Amino acid sequence: MQLPYRMSDTPTHHQIALMPSGRRGPVPAGMTLLDAARQLGVELESICGGRQTCGKCQIVIEEGHFPKHAITSSADHVSPIDGREAAYRAEHPLGARRLACACEALGDLLISVPEESQAHKQIIAKAATDRVIEVLPAVRQIYVESVEATLDDHRGDWERLQVAVAEQWHLTGLTIDPLVLPTLQPALRAGKFAVTLTLWQETEVLRVQPGYAEGAYGLAVDVGSTTVVAHLCDLRTGAVRATEAMMNPQVRYGEDLMSRVSYAMMDKQGAARLHRSIITALNDLARKAAVAAGVSTDDILDVVLAGNTVMHHILLGIDPVELGGSPFALAIDGPVDLKARDLGLKLGAAARVHVLPCIAGHVGADNVAVQLAEAPHRQDELMLIIDVGTNAEIVLGDRAQVLCASSPTGPAFEGAQITHGQRAAPGAIERVRIDPITLEPRFRLIGMDDWLQPGSVIAEGGLRATGICGSGIIEAVVEMFLAGIIDPDGRFDESAPGRSPRVRFNGRVGEYVLADAGHTASGAPMVVTQNDVRAIQLAKGALYAGVKLLMAERGVAQVDRIVLAGAFGSYIDPRHAMILGMIPDCDLSRVVAVGNAAGDGVRIALLNRERRAEAAQIARSAIHVQTAVSAEFQNEFVDAMALPHATDPFPHLNGQLPARTAHASARRSARRRAPAQ
Ligand code: FES
Repeated sequence: MQLPYRMSDTPTHHQIALMPSGRRGPVPAGMTLLDAARQLGVELESICGGRQTCGKCQIVIEEGHFPKHAITSSADHVSPIDGREAAYRAEHPLGARRLACACEALGDLLISVPEESQAHKQIIAKAATDRVIEVLPAVRQIYVESVEATLDDHRGDWERLQVAVAEQWHLTGLTIDPLVLPTLQPALRAGKFAVTLTLWQETEVLRVQPGYAEGAYGLAVDVGSTTVVAHLCDLRTGAVRATEAMMNPQVRYGEDLMSRVSYAMMDKQGAARLHRSIITALNDLARKAAVAAGVSTDDILDVVLAGNTVMHHILLGIDPVELGGSPFALAIDGPVDLKARDLGLKLGAAARVHVLPCIAGHVGADNVAVQLAEAPHRQDELMLIIDVGTNAEIVLGDRAQVLCASSPTGPAFEGAQITHGQRAAPGAIERVRIDPITLEPRFRLIGMDDWLQPGSVIAEGGLRATGICGSGIIEAVVEMFLAGIIDPDGRFDESAPGRSPRVRFNGRVGEYVLADAGHTASGAPMVVTQNDVRAIQLAKGALYAGVKLLMAERGVAQVDRIVLAGAFGSYIDPRHAMILGMIPDCDLSRVVAVGNAAGDGVRIALLNRERRAEAAQIARSAIHVQTAVSAEFQNEFVDAMALPHATDPFPHLNGQLPARTAHASARRSARRRAPAQ
């Protein structure tokens, strides 16, 4: 088409401004708006590469004079609708929108880019701290028009297609998965030599579909030792289309990690059995998520996995035996890229898997995922991140340096090893308050909004307490401490039975009746015993000692901000956590729970290939601090057994601790100093 703007007296360039980015500048007359936007630094969505087929590059041309931009914009300032765009619009009404790839610039323009047309979209991970994820996936689709085979052209269809890809997408050196190659010729013919390719890292073809096709999905999986959570994401938009979770089936071979390692050591088939069980679980999760999202598992072409080191090794089919003893050698610490089929995953035939890297024998890819989500390495303030689980993952750092450790807290925080402990589930006591004068308790159950107190009537068939979960036992111990039922050393006060019949002694061993028989599912009272208190002290002592080692290594006595990660972290009340001495002193308004940071980190790695490289960098540069084998850990651990701590001050708890705590702390400090004098 001969256009008037090509006449010699017409401008060679037009001013274009793009909203909402505000990018603006001159672009050559006649350039398509898809290219013009790219030239001005705004990447528009495009699967068809400007062939007016995919409809992803929609824009709105604003009408009027815009003094701020010194632009008079009009729909007449672009080439009219014709050809392919008209055909596209006949099938997909666009209203006032145009396809940017079909519009040539004939004059100045103010262009609005709807959110769905922006490439590298930013999505927000819903969490206490909103995490912005830029969508830049490793797997994406491109539409390519190849040329038909002829008698004169003896090249293979693959070679012809590669030339078309180079011309239309400027991508060279592509390879094609051997299982995908047999689908190439039928797809080319069915699509009249136009196909949609799904590419991995712009280097490998994972799928060939005839004509224009849409739909590539990814799975982000956080493989926890107790729970496995999978998010099915649309790789083009970043949207989570389905989330599925299940118990890790390996639990039947051992509740905690070390028992699973022992199982692998003791039974010749152990490691293989553990591997098979997690792969079966991942296939189940993928299938369920695909059904929920209304897609096929064949459409899942990318997977990112993270877990602690034992999960990581078992997942990859590596016997975790070396992780069971010093020096806790990892088989591999870097990221692993492989085919899903090599792990036995039943997804798209050529689907890829990326396993996030580990840091050290006890500091796994889950820790890396937490760091990726919370990004201490990008902060100016010193951040302490604690992911509470059977092993507590601890990270301390800022832009200058990031330290990390894993501390063996044991399963007490999850309700295990507690007389009436249970996992967080309906019926579990999750909140506890004790009147400091009468020593009467109030508590709340998961699944019930109202608090129960002595005398509360529960209707026939109503929910009753089935046990005490992690947050419940933490609050119970803290409230017992605040009420003077136990002293800072965690011992039951022998004078407490005189204050209330709820405190009783079996010989020298004390216990507190938290729930009366009428409020429990078993019909028997529910108690918190001296052993329960001790188990919590051991767990919190190990956690705090780990934190102190990192703080000592970094040479600081204070942190700026504390982040409680993990599902459990969301249920811990920061004030109770600090009074217990799980976390060091800090302004309570600077203690936040962020939910499943590891899960968000995995999703970030799925949706953004550059963040995978960042994860590898995090794993390389994080400094691992040994905890359990360190002599200093033992010293810190002993001091950290007291509530909140034998020696460390907690100025932010001033006026909130029992008065005698201060005296007890002072006495202990004096005792500790005595041998050195
Ligand atoms: S880029 Fe596909 S329709 Fe414009």
